Amino acid sequence: MYGVESAVHPAYRGQGIGSRLMEARFQVVRALNLRGMVAGSAIMDYHTTGGQISAEQYVQEVIGGQRFDTNLSKQLHKGFQVHNLIPDYLEDDDEFTMGWGVTIVWHNPDYQPYGEEMPMK
Ligand SMILES: CC(C)(COP(=O)(O)OP(=O)(O)OC[C@H]1O[C@@H](n2cnc3c(N)ncnc32)[C@H](O)[C@@H]1OP(=O)(O)O)[C@@H](O)C(=O)NCCC(=O)NCCS
Repeated sequence: MYGVESAVHPAYRGQGIGSRLMEARFQVVRALNLRGMVAGSAIMDYHTTGGQISAEQYVQEVIGGQRFDTNLSKQLHKGFQVHNLIPDYLEDDDEFTMGWGVTIVWHNPDYQPYGEEMPMK
């Protein structure tokens, strides 16, 4: 499943709403027995580095827990994994991401490949 834009109004972030939205999507993935979910994540706090480190290093540091990113840290906490960097995800002059995003993937732990449960004859 591809997850298009989801957002919580800045005034209501940090109160568990985004978490419930992500869990609702995971429930859809489980109910449809899909392999998982792919989405794009704008790395909103990359601008705090002032461009002193590469987007790749920034993402590694978010993954390692040395940095907090408004979007990515919360998505990683919910079980998403980073698949790859996306240059030009947003406009180059986007003041928060400086254009960068990442592809994030959530693997459905309950996915059952079709036919695998069929008894062998
Ligand atoms: C991403 C976004 C939807 C999260 O919404 P939110 O309401 O702030 O998220 P929550 O408060 O529910 O937090 C989500 C999870 O992150 C966890 N979390 C909060 N702060 C954290 C931190 N510093 N480090 C790690 N995890 C953290 C929360 O505990 C929660 O997990 P839990 O419910 O299992 O405990 C929100 O930041 C947003 O709207 N961003 C802008 C739009 C956007 O770019 N969306 C993503 C691309 S589609």
